[in-house]
Amino acid sequence: MTATPEPPVHDLVGVGFGPSNVALAIALREHADGAGAGALSGVFHERQEEFGWHRGMLLDDATMQVSFLKDLVTTRNPASDFSFLSFLHGAGRLHDFINHKTLFPLRAEFHDYLAWCAGRMADRVHYGSEAFAVEPVRDPSGRVAQLDVLSRDPSGAVTRTRGRNLVLAPGLRPRLPEGARASERVWHNEHLLHRLDALDPDARPRSFVVVGAGQSAAETAEHLYHRFPGARVAAVFSRYGYSPSDDTPFANRIFDPEAVDAFYDAPEEVKDELMGYHRNTNYSVVDPDLINELYRRAYADRVRGAERLVLHGTSRVTAVEERADGVTATVEDRATGKQTPVDADYLVYATGYRPAADPRDLLGPLGVHVVADEKGRPVVDRDYRLATTDDLTCGIYLQGGTEHTHGISSSLLSNVAVRVGEITASIAARTPRPR
Ligand code: FDA
Ligand code: NAP
Repeated sequence: MTATPEPPVHDLVGVGFGPSNVALAIALREHADGAGAGALSGVFHERQEEFGWHRGMLLDDATMQVSFLKDLVTTRNPASDFSFLSFLHGAGRLHDFINHKTLFPLRAEFHDYLAWCAGRMADRVHYGSEAFAVEPVRDPSGRVAQLDVLSRDPSGAVTRTRGRNLVLAPGLRPRLPEGARASERVWHNEHLLHRLDALDPDARPRSFVVVGAGQSAAETAEHLYHRFPGARVAAVFSRYGYSPSDDTPFANRIFDPEAVDAFYDAPEEVKDELMGYHRNTNYSVVDPDLINELYRRAYADRVRGAERLVLHGTSRVTAVEERADGVTATVEDRATGKQTPVDADYLVYATGYRPAADPRDLLGPLGVHVVADEKGRPVVDRDYRLATTDDLTCGIYLQGGTEHTHGISSSLLSNVAVRVGEITASIAARTPRPR
């Protein structure tokens, strides 16, 4: 009988190839000096068939919520040729972009930039490959020194990839209100463009309900309003009106690398306070320009006596009844208790995202080795490495899912370039090299 050959061992195996792990792949490459010394090997699994960054929300006019200088590399290595400016230069648009005088490119253009970076790293990624389990590889002392990531391709074929370190960057997960169910007529905004593009081209939706008052909700309402000039858009949310994101410079420092240090070392109650104070830099808030644009349109319609954007503030959807030809949302005004049935062709929940999946889900039985805090959350070291029992000598790193330890930038692009530098340095420092 012939033994199954052992798979090659990589310095790291990455799960997910969104911006976080693309940035990591670049950092690994740049870590090696010109002669290739110090090179770390990495291979990544991405379940999408090709690179894609929130494609369902790549709305025509939507812009980035972060400066292009916070691309995948610049704040770590301003000389990198993987910068957004390098991309523009290659695309022949550098001067045009400069003349534009903006720090906030179109999201579609940033998507092209990210895809350009991912394309240059194509030899390190398996697309159409969903990681579904992790198994231990033990050393002679019985400790887990390496991990096997099991992934499945669309045909069901399973691949085993072995690494000394695992870097999980699976991204956020869409959140529906409790009890809500997505269907043909009820969507999460994550799939907005896919759903709209799949509609019968002759169908002209006459009405939508959009639930939520964050950036996604406002962009969804604006898009539907603009794309279907005859349609009524009912926006339902618990605030009185859309509220602006705080993008002022002092508050913006909460996204700086130094803020990660401050947050990481702060006592738990200070962490909670900081999240409370600065939540409005990111959550349940809308870019002020978009708020003004929505108001301008709504007011102009009112002047014409053809109101199409109907805001139900201080309200919530208490029930959704779905029929073959539409939905009826029961909208309750929380101030008065009045219940109003709102009919619509489609209902879009723009109700945000949940944090990255708990790493222990993927780790399965290995999860018992992850150290938990008093609230049961994984303890994560400053270098984004999961704290584990001594039974594990391999590293498990997180990109995302660290808001409780590293602060508000955890799920965002702001700090990606610096974070992947820190992860690379941590892995390199722990990786013995032949002299
Ligand atoms: P991301 O979610 O992008 O990528 C994770 C990848 O992992 C996905 O491609 C997924 O398919 C893959 N994956 C998951 N599980 C897997 C598995 N088991 N096996 C294989 N692959 C798996 N932030 C910001 O700073 N500025 C901004 O302008 C925006 N704009 C923005 C717009 C919209 C519409 C949303 C929803 C979010 C933003 N964000 C943002 C926040 C957003 O989280 C951030 O831009 C990045 O997407 C984070 O990159 P990640 O790579 O961590 O996750
Ligand atoms: P979000 O900021 O978390 O907002 C979610 C909204 O849904 C809030 O108004 C929230 O109301 C509401 N909500 C949550 N649960 C609900 C429930 N059960 N019932 C009713 N309403 C509920 O989510 P988001 O707008 O999707 O933004 C998420 C992230 O993506 C942010 O980082 C944002 O900047 C980013 N984003 C960026 C862009 C861009 O780059 N242009 C576009 C879209 C999103 P409460 O406040 O009352 O809880």
